[in-house]
Amino acid sequence: MCRRKEEQKQRKAMAHENKILIIGATGYLGKFMVKASVSMGHPTYAYVRPIKPDSDPSKLKTHEEFRSMGVSVFQGELDDHGRLVSALRQVDVVISTVGVPQYLHQLNIISAVKEVGTIKRFVPSEYGNEVDRVSGLPPFEALSERKRKKRRATEAAGLSYTYVSANSFAAYFIDYFLHPRESRDNVVVYGTGEAKAVLNYEEDVAAYTVKAATDPRTANSVVICRPSNNIVSQLDLISMWETKTGHTCEKVYVHEDELIKLTQTLPYPENIPAAVLHNIFIQGDQMSFELSGDDLEASKLYPDYNYTCVDGILDICLVNPPKPKLATLA
Ligand SMILES: NC(=O)c1ccc[n+]([C@@H]2O[C@H](COP(=O)([O-])OP(=O)(O)OC[C@H]3O[C@@H](n4cnc5c(N)ncnc54)[C@H](OP(=O)(O)O)[C@@H]3O)[C@@H](O)[C@H]2O)c1
Repeated sequence: MCRRKEEQKQRKAMAHENKILIIGATGYLGKFMVKASVSMGHPTYAYVRPIKPDSDPSKLKTHEEFRSMGVSVFQGELDDHGRLVSALRQVDVVISTVGVPQYLHQLNIISAVKEVGTIKRFVPSEYGNEVDRVSGLPPFEALSERKRKKRRATEAAGLSYTYVSANSFAAYFIDYFLHPRESRDNVVVYGTGEAKAVLNYEEDVAAYTVKAATDPRTANSVVICRPSNNIVSQLDLISMWETKTGHTCEKVYVHEDELIKLTQTLPYPENIPAAVLHNIFIQGDQMSFELSGDDLEASKLYPDYNYTCVDGILDICLVNPPKPKLATLA
């Protein structure tokens, strides 16, 4: 009882004292991360690319939104070592949400974090499958290999880290499968549609990440987001959607062999989405291993946090479907 109270006290202290820097803050997941960090009361910092004459005008608006939320904005490129180091010197915790094409740029972040030497926790960008326990077709493996390379570099640098295995982003995949913003009669089903996957709402992935980044229990560990209410197959998802909308969807099946062939014949990087779909929704990789007592599962670590279950996300989609940005996969 006493130990539990002490742990809770330690967690509370750590959660409130940390200045959090988000690198990749203007991206799809990055914006959720900034909101989560601010809403949990952390002094929040964003490392963003400098605005140039040809920058997308929405970027300037995003920087202004951040400032109006009380976020301190540092401008710099990922390969600008000097700027990175001076930003890192002002914070305690670093969460990276850079996109897939920038995965290996994170080696620059790792060396800057090492040089600064005062960062209490580094969370690198990955937020997908637990790459050290699963494997897929060659294009999927190439992607996973980049995540593993960055994990090994983090460990070799001796940093205190947390890896977040977020599994699938729910708004993103529900939009992809069910097209809630359009009125379509048919849905594409990959393979038999029976493989179980884990769909987590982006807002919750960000909240779990910020909690884990400031939690002494998650140092040098992987946090896996696998809440029991978010484990569904494509067929489950379609049936839940049919019940909610009152419409039956015509199912168009894409056979496993067809998808495998696409991974072999499409040029890189177009072959990657096919390999990702195969891995998650046919191979069922996200549910291919049991969690043991030593595993840190997010909803069990933070039982007081009310995550949105798949059913709830479908309700949101019925009323006001989110518009997820499709990630760049290569
Ligand atoms: N599990 C899933 O279902 C799922 C789905 C989607 C994404 N993800 C993961 O989530 C993570 C984030 O992906 P995302 O789609 O949110 O990425 P994104 O939208 O492409 O955002 C990338 C961020 O990195 C920044 N950036 C790019 N190059 C930079 C540079 N040279 N210097 C400084 N900043 C730079 C971008 O800045 P600008 O805004 O200036 O371009 C942006 O803020 C990735 O690890 C991805 O794999 C997972």
